Amino acid sequence: MPLVKLQKVTRRYRLGQTSVTAVEDVDIEIDRGEFVALWGPSGSGKSTLCNLVGCIDLPSSGSVEVNGRNVADLSDDALSEHRNLSVGFVFQQFNLVPVLTALENVMLPLNLRGVAAREARAHAIDLLAELGIADFMAHRPDKLSGGQRQRVAIARALVGKPALVIADEPTANLDSGNALRIVSLMGQLNKSHGTTFIFATHDQRLLDRVSRRILLADGRVVEDTTQAGAR
Ligand SMILES: Nc1ncnc2c1ncn2[C@@H]1O[C@H](COP(=O)(O)OP(=O)(O)O)[C@@H](O)[C@H]1O
Ligand SMILES: [Mg+2]
Repeated sequence: MPLVKLQKVTRRYRLGQTSVTAVEDVDIEIDRGEFVALWGPSGSGKSTLCNLVGCIDLPSSGSVEVNGRNVADLSDDALSEHRNLSVGFVFQQFNLVPVLTALENVMLPLNLRGVAAREARAHAIDLLAELGIADFMAHRPDKLSGGQRQRVAIARALVGKPALVIADEPTANLDSGNALRIVSLMGQLNKSHGTTFIFATHDQRLLDRVSRRILLADGRVVEDTTQAGAR
């Protein structure tokens, strides 16, 4: 059974009298342990598809199944439990909590699942150090640069070692050194923990490392290729 299965998924947004079709008639199956990129030009539907795969949005038509269960049939509680326990998100706009420090933002997913504060703190500090931002852990997001915020968002997505990580443009604001560090950290987690990664990206540095690329154009899948020996 695939981890995520999309069948004939269409997502329309209503805009006044008209509507925009962001994703159209998409069929995708993603297995556990895959390291996949969704790529394509701006406006091709990458972010919309990330939200659908991560169950923070529902399709206008078609079905999204996670672990063999149709997301539309899950209760709100079951859905939020799934998102809290199984999915780590890196959003394009980072979505850090402004009143919390970098460290507190990273600890948040562990707090939500009841990990003891000392342990959560230690895990979060380790990861911030690995991403080269331990010196900034006491800062709130508005005191961090774009690249630092992005690394905090990535640490928050990875800290709970979720089964699935969905990362929307995770390297967009990073210099080469940090981008490579983050891509190899994600590659390591994929190998050592079997974490499934789904990226929306047009960063060639990341596209070179993924094992599968799904090309989107105008909300449709136009190419789906698996490359051997990546990561
Ligand atoms: N909340 C929204 N309301 C209206 N239109 C949207 C919304 N989100 C995305 N769209 C439209 O859907 C299309 C796909 O957008 P998006 O998924 O953000 O693409 P990408 O991430 O590849 O840039 C675009 O035409 C975009 O303008
Ligand atoms: Mg996008």
